[in-house]
Amino acid sequence: MPLREEDIIIEEDKVREITDLQDFFPTPNPIYLEVGSGKGTFMRGMANIHKNINFFGIEWANRFYRHFVDRTIREDLRNVRILRTDAAPFLIKYVKDESITQFNIFFPDPWHKNRHNLRRFIVENNLINAHRILKPGGRFLFTTDHEGYFEWSKAMFFANSNITPLFKKIEFPKLDTAREGEIVGTNYERKYIKEGRTFYSLAFEKI
Ligand SMILES: C[S@@+](CC[C@H](N)C(=O)[O-])C[C@H]1O[C@@H](n2cnc3c(N)ncnc32)[C@H](O)[C@@H]1O
Repeated sequence: MPLREEDIIIEEDKVREITDLQDFFPTPNPIYLEVGSGKGTFMRGMANIHKNINFFGIEWANRFYRHFVDRTIREDLRNVRILRTDAAPFLIKYVKDESITQFNIFFPDPWHKNRHNLRRFIVENNLINAHRILKPGGRFLFTTDHEGYFEWSKAMFFANSNITPLFKKIEFPKLDTAREGEIVGTNYERKYIKEGRTFYSLAFEKI
């Protein structure tokens, strides 16, 4: 039977209590979460290669979300679920403890003006929550092209006494979607590479 939108779209207003995202997939498998999944280039690539992993993408911009949904259906990726919302409050309010195997955030919006810095996703609350929802030994992966956001994130992970004890730095893993010269292989990364931008990455394991 062809894949339908209702098979892969998660309606936020149907989620009203702490939920195991696993319940949205037909097969219990490790869950890889991506915040700000954009057009889903990374997630669709991975989902095609790794049928034994469940991929859950959260994207709030309608244009990117629609593209992600349409392509997922066209590519018949049955191990992908997509939610259109603001990831931060959703993850804090609704996602079950120790239920996520990998937490990915690639090229998040940098909010580069100083007065907007606190709108960044990498802030104390969100990292404490990421630690809560990750399984023991689960991984947190982050990339950016923005040096200021990279420095900000390093300060969070390495110099914030509430965060530093929660994560152990690891080498950034080799991802199957990354082509020559890429870290991850997202849509933005491919766009920025052509502009000759420098990329920064961090990877951690939950302690
Ligand atoms: C610079 S784009 C990167 C998209 C994708 N990760 C890539 O590398 O191609 C950042 C994306 O994050 C989304 N985004 C930013 N904050 C978000 C939030 N709080 N919840 C969900 N999506 C968010 C934006 O709409 C945008 O699509």
